[in-house]
Amino acid sequence: MPRPRRTPARVIRITHWIGALSMLVMIGSGWQIYNASPILPFTFPPWLTLGGWLAGGIAWHFAAMWVLMGAGIVYGTYGVVSGHFRRDLRLRGMGAIGRDMGLALRFRLSHTPGHYNAVQRLLYTGVLIVACLTVASGLSIWKPVQLGWLCWLFGGYDLARRIHFTMMALIVGFLVVHVVLALLVPSTLFGMVFGRRPAPHDPEAVR
Ligand code: HEM
Repeated sequence: MPRPRRTPARVIRITHWIGALSMLVMIGSGWQIYNASPILPFTFPPWLTLGGWLAGGIAWHFAAMWVLMGAGIVYGTYGVVSGHFRRDLRLRGMGAIGRDMGLALRFRLSHTPGHYNAVQRLLYTGVLIVACLTVASGLSIWKPVQLGWLCWLFGGYDLARRIHFTMMALIVGFLVVHVVLALLVPSTLFGMVFGRRPAPHDPEAVR
C-alpha cells in the first residue's frame, strides 16, 4: 500500500526559504570578507562575492546572520516540539543508507513527497549540524574575547576561522547536490514552494 503523500508543514517551508536565502547571502558576503585576508592560496572571483568591499561584506554578513538565526530558532523549535525531527529526519541504519544510495545512483529510488529516504535524512541531519557549527564558530571569531570559552572550544581563533571556512565548504557542497536533486525531482521543489498539489485522482492526501 503506498504511503500517504505529504508536504512539509508551512512553517518548515517558510523557514527553509528564509534560511536558504540568508545562507546564500552569508556565503557571498563571507567570500567578500575572506578575500580581504585569505587563509588559503586563492581568493573568490569578485562577481561571486557580495558587499563590494570588506565593510560592505561584513554588513551583509551580520544582517543575514540574524535572519538565519531567527529562522533557525523557529525551525528548530518547531522540529522538536511537533515531532518532525523524530518522525521525518531520524537516521536510518547503515544498511538502509547503503541500499537507498545504490538505488539513487541507479536513478531507481522512488520518492513520496514528505517522506525522506535514508540518504536524505543523513544529508539533512548532517547539514543542520554543520549549519549550527558554522554559526557557533562564526560567533567565536566575531567575539573572541567576550565568547572566549567558545573560541577556546574551537581550538583558538586561527583554528576556529579554519573550521568556519571548512563548514562553509561543506554547506556549499551540500547545496550543489541538494539543488541538483531538487531539479531532478521537481515535484519536491513544487511542494517545498507551494505546498502539496494533489493529483485529482489521488485519494491519499493527508494535508
Ligand atoms: C537555495 C536553493 C535550495 C533549494 C532549491 C532547496 C530545495 C529543497 C527541497 C525541494 C526540499 C524538499 C525535499 C523533498 O521534499 O524531498 C528541501 C528540503 C530541505 N532543505 Fe533545501 N533547498 C535549498 C537550499 C537549502 C539550504 C541552503 C539548506 C541548508 C543549508 C537546505 C536544507 C534543507 C533541509 C534541512 C531540508 C529538509 C527540511 C525538513 O523537512 O525539515 N536547503 N530543500
